[in-house]
Amino acid sequence: MASFSSSSRCFLAAMATLIGLMMIMSCQAKTPTSPAAVAPGPIAAPLNLTGILEKGGQYTTLMRLLKETQVGEQIQSQLKNSYDGLTIFAPTDNAFNNLKPGTLNSLTPQEQVSLVLYHVLPRYYSLSTFETTSNPVRTQASGNNGVYSLNITSTSSQVNVSTGVDDTQISNKLYSDFPLAVYSVDSVLLPYDIFGAKPPAAAPAPSLLPPKKKKKPAANANVTSSAKAPATTSSDAADDSTTTPSAAAAAASIRLGSSALVAAALCFFISLAN
Ligand SMILES: *[C@@H]1O[C@H](CO)[C@@H](O)[C@H](O)[C@H]1NC(C)=O
Ligand SMILES: *[C@@H]1O[C@H](CO)[C@@H](O)[C@H](O)[C@H]1NC(C)=O
Ligand SMILES: *[C@@H]1O[C@H](CO)[C@@H](O)[C@H](O)[C@H]1NC(C)=O
Ligand SMILES: *[C@@H]1O[C@H](CO)[C@@H](O)[C@H](O)[C@H]1NC(C)=O
Repeated sequence: MASFSSSSRCFLAAMATLIGLMMIMSCQAKTPTSPAAVAPGPIAAPLNLTGILEKGGQYTTLMRLLKETQVGEQIQSQLKNSYDGLTIFAPTDNAFNNLKPGTLNSLTPQEQVSLVLYHVLPRYYSLSTFETTSNPVRTQASGNNGVYSLNITSTSSQVNVSTGVDDTQISNKLYSDFPLAVYSVDSVLLPYDIFGAKPPAAAPAPSLLPPKKKKKPAANANVTSSAKAPATTSSDAADDSTTTPSAAAAAASIRLGSSALVAAALCFFISLAN
């Protein structure tokens, strides 16, 4: 009986040690939390075409068109799950000002969408990959029948873009990091399918437009809100990192706890032996 009571004293002492250690660990776990919560700051900001163009400072007309046609939202959504990436030719405000007066207003809403999509290539091109591009190059306005394509010719120092109606050159790289490249151009790319010499019958453009393209922007009308999701991810990440140290502490307490239990068991057997 004496041996039993000494073993239970031994066990109680071990449990007290265990509880004490756990309290110490949980106190310590709180201390490293605040510096660790600051760390996730550099997590990559979500790609933001509007932000890139805004920073460029001379793309207000393009930004307005991207918004009005909802192609901007479509682009944001595509960037999030695109294996090939996107390349955007961004005409400057001057480029739009140099159009014949009324050019944009003469377009139907569908043609405006096509015009904007014509400035978007369905994959990421670094400047050097233009040198090995084979023509004609498809754009986001191209259907299955090869309409709305561009010819791109390039040397290491120059990239020419030709629509069959007008020519321009890439004048500046605004952004280039997979999955998105944004290049400034000094002319609006005028698709032959809208601005080319029209046969006397006139208005062939609408029938050439791939119908599903027109619906796409509306289907993606709510991308803006979902595009904000990565912003919450960074605070999630902050939460994760606040839990990590205490999780580590918990693991440590469990290890200490099992050591204490082993010690208690040893006490018990030693006292039994006595
Ligand atoms: C993109 O940036 C613009 C301006 O910098 C901002 O107004 C907009 O909310 C941002 N959009 C997203 C989806 O982060
Ligand atoms: C680009 O166009 C300019 C002017 O039209 C021409 O002189 C130049 O050779 C072209 N460069 C390439 C790489 O096609
Ligand atoms: C592209 O080049 C080909 C041949 O070089 C030509 O037939 C075609 O019309 C050009 N297309 C455009 C859009 O310039
Ligand atoms: C987009 O979201 C807003 C509210 O967030 C909602 O009122 C609207 O109906 C949504 N539009 C579409 C096309 O889902």
